[in-house]
Formats: sequence, structure tokens, C-alpha cells
Amino acid sequence: MLCFLGQGGDGIVDIVTLHNVKKYFGEGFGQVKAIDGINLSFEKSKFTAIVGASGSGKTTLLNMIGGLYEPTEGTVIVDGTNLAELTEEELTVFRRRKIGFVFQDYNLIPEMTIRENILFPLALDDSRPNDAYFAEVVSALGLGRQLDKFPYMLSGGGQQCAAIARALINKNSIILADEPTGSFDAKTSQNVAGLLKMTAEAFHQTLILITHNLELSQLADRMVCLQDGRIVT
Ligand SMILES: Nc1ncnc2c1ncn2[C@@H]1O[C@H](COP(=O)(O)OP(=O)(O)OP(=O)(O)O)[C@@H](O)[C@H]1O
Ligand SMILES: [Mg+2]
Repeated sequence: MLCFLGQGGDGIVDIVTLHNVKKYFGEGFGQVKAIDGINLSFEKSKFTAIVGASGSGKTTLLNMIGGLYEPTEGTVIVDGTNLAELTEEELTVFRRRKIGFVFQDYNLIPEMTIRENILFPLALDDSRPNDAYFAEVVSALGLGRQLDKFPYMLSGGGQQCAAIARALINKNSIILADEPTGSFDAKTSQNVAGLLKMTAEAFHQTLILITHNLELSQLADRMVCLQDGRIVT
């Protein structure tokens, strides 16, 4: 397995940079050093896979990039903004406009149709969908006939596609996906990861995807391996 750190060299634009980031949970003997001193950059429009054993800190790292967790130490810069300098309210808006999350368990709202779920991030911002873009996303994810259904009426793969569409609808520049294929069989996993890669390429998004699946990580431009909260090379 080839793992390496992005160096952000000449002409390369880094959209996410972590400087000596640590995240500790608890104190004293029970303290868990979930992330323990990470320096890492993510290049704009590239696809990075984050791999590592269970408990190695992958979700904690992704949640700090997404501004869901505040680091114990260190700085997280996203698209030129130091997340620590934003108020809670500013961070919520920043997250909604910059970052699309795809969670393992989809997090669709059961009472809303697939269409309403996909459009929800726009509704929160009081903005209206661009019809052509909405149609493009829906068609790329094969959701054309599912829009008026409720999430429970779709297969797991269908629901994950809806969650991906929701992550794409705001044209967020960064897509963070935490084991988006965790509950799928090998073929569906490849299809869903392939779709994420394809849509990220089409819409020039930076894709950061956590996976346990080494085959999926081969789809990425780069692989980052975590072990005990640190990067291993
Ligand atoms: N909110 C929390 N409070 C206390 N400890 C936590 C919390 N979140 C994570 N941890 C601990 O931090 C470590 C890293 O957890 P994390 O969820 O980031 O790992 P992971 O690599 O995503 O694992 P998995 O592959 O199982 O999802 C683990 O020891 C976990 O128990
Ligand atoms: Mg995790």
C-alpha cells in the first residue's frame, strides 16, 4: 500500500490545511488521543481516501475538517478560513456553503420526499435550486423516478445516492464522506464510490472519503493512512 503526505508544492492549491492538529477526549488515565499531531494538506479538486483500522481517528479527523469538532490544539484552515476564528453561527453557514457531508447512515429526513431531502440545504439558505443543475445531479445519480418517494421506499443504495445528491446540490467545494459505502456489498460499494468520484470530478469538488475498503481507496488520487491518531507513511 502506498501512502504519502500531500506537500502542496509549486502551483498546487491546497483547499484544506491542518497544522499540528490534536483532538483529545477526556482527561487523565481515561484520556483518548484520537488525533495526535497531524500536519496535512488537501489539494483542490483532488480525491483523497483516508484509511486505517477502527479507532485510528478517521471520523475524528473528518469531523475537524468539517468543523463539527473543535481541535484540542492546532489549526484547521478551510479555503483560506481558520475555522477557530468563526463564531458558532458563522461556522454553521460556512459549513453549509462549503462542505457537503455524506454520512454512512445517510441521515435523510424520513418525513420528506427524496426531492425535499435533496433540496433541504438550499431551503435552509432560503435559496432556490438551479433547475438545470438539479436535473444534472438527479440524472447523474439515477434518481429521476425516485423524487416523489419517501426514503423508506428506496433501497440502501438509492438512499445513499439521495444523500450524495443532497451533498452536491449546494455546489459545495468540499465533499466529506465517512464510510458512505459501509453497509453495501462489494459491487454497490464500487458503484457508489465511483459515482462520488465522477460527480466530484464533474463539479470540480475536493473529495475526502473514509473507507475500510482498500479496493475503493485505489480509486483515489491519494491515500492517507491513520494509525493511533497519526499519519503513517
Ligand atoms: N466523542 C468521543 N468521546 C470520547 N472518545 C471518542 C469520541 N469520538 C471518538 N472517540 C475515540 O477516539 C478514537 C478514534 O475514534 P474515531 O471514531 O475517530 O475512529 P475511526 O477511525 O473513525 O473508527 P471506525 O473505523 O470504527 O469508524 C477511538 O478510540 C474512539 O473511541
Ligand atoms: Mg469512523
